[in-house]
Amino acid sequence: MLKPTYPYYLANEPVAANTDLEVTDKYSGEVATRVALADAQAIDKAISAAVDAMPALRAYPPFKRQLVLEHCVKRFRERYDELAMALCIEAGKPINDSRGEVTRLIDTFKVAAEESVRIDGEIINLEISQRAKGYHGYVKRVPIGPCSFISPFNFPLNLAAHKVAPALAAGVSFVMKPASRAPIGALIIAEVLAETDLPKGAFSVLPAHRDGADLFTTDERFKLLSFTGSPAVGWELKKKAGKKKVILELGGNAAAIVDGDQGGKLDYVVDRLAFGAFYQSGQSCIGVQRILIHASLYDALREKLIAKTKSLKMGDPKDEKTFVGPMISESESRRLAGWMEGAVQAGAKIIAGGNVDGAMFEATLLEGVKRDTDLYRREAFGPVAILERFSDFEEALAVVNNSDFGLQAGIFTDSLTHAHRAWDALEVGGVVINDVPSFRVDNMPYGGVKDSGLGREGIRYAIEDMTELRLMVVRETW
Ligand code: SIN
Repeated sequence: MLKPTYPYYLANEPVAANTDLEVTDKYSGEVATRVALADAQAIDKAISAAVDAMPALRAYPPFKRQLVLEHCVKRFRERYDELAMALCIEAGKPINDSRGEVTRLIDTFKVAAEESVRIDGEIINLEISQRAKGYHGYVKRVPIGPCSFISPFNFPLNLAAHKVAPALAAGVSFVMKPASRAPIGALIIAEVLAETDLPKGAFSVLPAHRDGADLFTTDERFKLLSFTGSPAVGWELKKKAGKKKVILELGGNAAAIVDGDQGGKLDYVVDRLAFGAFYQSGQSCIGVQRILIHASLYDALREKLIAKTKSLKMGDPKDEKTFVGPMISESESRRLAGWMEGAVQAGAKIIAGGNVDGAMFEATLLEGVKRDTDLYRREAFGPVAILERFSDFEEALAVVNNSDFGLQAGIFTDSLTHAHRAWDALEVGGVVINDVPSFRVDNMPYGGVKDSGLGREGIRYAIEDMTELRLMVVRETW
């Protein structure tokens, strides 16, 4: 169960300021807990503390950073059930998915603990011409400086962890704004960090309303902004971010292609497609939104997928059997219902699901969706998938690329040639062969191209962003 109130964390310390932020249980709609809400003054103080912490952090050696990360792993294991239930309540995430996210949180910190002691440099041979004879180059990575993090509601723990854990490994201070609708996961991470001897000011976690939170984006004391959230917000923030480095993990309308040679594996393919389209009510940036099926398999796969979709249990996310819980809010489900209605008016047919009640949106399949509709072109971020048929693999690749987004794509194929061709041709951050685009483990490079974002997360890649190269040149005078 959640505690009645949660403090925010400013310069490593809990602050029980006015607990003005109500966090609701996303299934019952009732207030589940109250959270201290930071104002611009608190954010400003946290940034000053993050700046002041940098000299101590630069002197805080890798083995100590590793100990902090290992402490987190231990404490998250001990608090596993509490963390899973917090996610289930604050995000409405089905309990099985919530447990899965806590497992991933632990993986993310484990990987960061390992990476923290192998942030190496290199020796560069500078003797490329006569004038450089006797010069030697050495490069190491140094922490970039204070970082600003803004994390989303859909993975309140693990997407916060994808910023916090590499920051701890890299030795940078940070100020984080967790999602206001689901801040508890990040606050529990902060509670665990407060048990360590990190230098004062190394971290602050400050729930704040978006309108009071400009400093996260505009303040020039930050050297990096890492944002995960909607494309519309992300690209706006980038315009206001000034000189700092900007990493954006945004959305997508991910596609899965089912090649013509998959006839013998349809049950597996259908299971994975249903998972990819409907897990956590489709609220994942790599949720399957478009399913491209080879014409020879279309009818058989369609029937199986309809049956599977209808079998998914919708309801209370605390129920072990629930697969589809609520969307994050009623306004989000209304938005998606509007897009679905628009698609139907333009000629689409709902072939499974389609019912909406408050924040509860049934797992839904459509076909015949026009490619210029919102439902097709924009990020659905809900439990809706669109079926389309193709007859030529190249044509399917072109359809996947006909998108403003490019995060991940999934290809079910036995053909190594098609796998490589997709890897070459698709304009995405990652191609997953024989699984859905929704597949992610936490050490892989993860991020998108086009409107899906800038940069990559995945610990090692985030550490590269949170550090910069510093060169030393030595001339032989001996
Ligand atoms: C996301 O929604 O971008 C994250 C997906 C994941 O970590 O599995």
